[in-house]
Amino acid sequence: MTIDIPEPQALGTPITHSAIFIVANVNPGSEAAEKVKGWCGDIAGLVRSVGKRVPSGNLSCICGFSSGAWDRLFDGPRPAALHDFREFGVEGRLAVSTPGDLLLHIRAEQMDLCFELATQLMSALDGAVTVTDEVQGFRYFDMRSIIGFVDGTENPVGRKAVDFTIVGDEDPSFSGGSYVLVQKYLHNMTAWNQLSVEAQEKVIGRTKLSDIELDDEAKPSNSHSALTTITKDGEEVKILRDNMPFGRPGAGEFGTYFIGYARSPEPLEQMLENMFVGKPPGNYDRLLDFSTAVTGTLFFVPSADLLDELAER
Ligand code: HEM
Repeated sequence: MTIDIPEPQALGTPITHSAIFIVANVNPGSEAAEKVKGWCGDIAGLVRSVGKRVPSGNLSCICGFSSGAWDRLFDGPRPAALHDFREFGVEGRLAVSTPGDLLLHIRAEQMDLCFELATQLMSALDGAVTVTDEVQGFRYFDMRSIIGFVDGTENPVGRKAVDFTIVGDEDPSFSGGSYVLVQKYLHNMTAWNQLSVEAQEKVIGRTKLSDIELDDEAKPSNSHSALTTITKDGEEVKILRDNMPFGRPGAGEFGTYFIGYARSPEPLEQMLENMFVGKPPGNYDRLLDFSTAVTGTLFFVPSADLLDELAER
């Protein structure tokens, strides 16, 4: 049960039209580390300043820290389940682990708000970090991923979303926090578009136009939906996703920025194992024949209250 938890960061924000994802490393030296710590106390104020200008724009920002960054920046206890991202799969079909100390997940209805906040946040960091990846994501029609299927349908909502994503009594010093996995995927759209719609539906496990789940008899065991549906002690365990399409058609780049929040890294890792190694091993996610993970990093997202306090740690 999660009761009396500190205020989480803005995980519950309704899916927006635009997002910017920034992953950055903290530069060497104590000056950079101190700058980043102090900045933790500035984030909420900057979100207020930029967001107030367009109240209907729903601007929000979530900030996470990797295991290595946590140990380097903050004294005292550390989030119990935080560790470096572990790779899954085999050469040619690998959930790669790539460097990154900080994650910024900025969302708003309009890109100008995301852009302005990213600019202000980076300017406040004033050279203390080096950005390793930056992606601008957009909503694609009726919440479609770039491969044409509606994405996010089976996300938990309301109380369930909180129970599945927010740390509670199991780690009292970090209650109100969350774990988040990001992976940048590139799709081979030429190969994908050569499949018939029926074949694509068997890859995802849902119908394309109407987004209805295939019956158990029709849904292959190597479909994305079958392999990412997991249970623990007989109960389904969910994560909260807010994937965004991105790309550069002129360069032939078509991608999905995957972002998944959970109460512990365990369900995220279980899903990756099912997808990349397979369940049983070898029966891997068909979606990976058309999608390559080019980044992968795990972060802890402290509660909003703790984020503010971290400046003093
Ligand atoms: C190439 C990147 C990916 C794409 C394009 C993608 C797309 C989709 C689509 C279209 C659906 C069906 C609609 C829905 O319920 O949202 C889905 C479901 C889902 N995906 Fe992904 N996904 C990707 C990667 C991942 C990864 C890496 C994970 C987990 C680590 C994941 C976890 C899930 C889960 C839990 C569901 C819901 C399954 C269910 O309850 O039926 N996805 N995804």
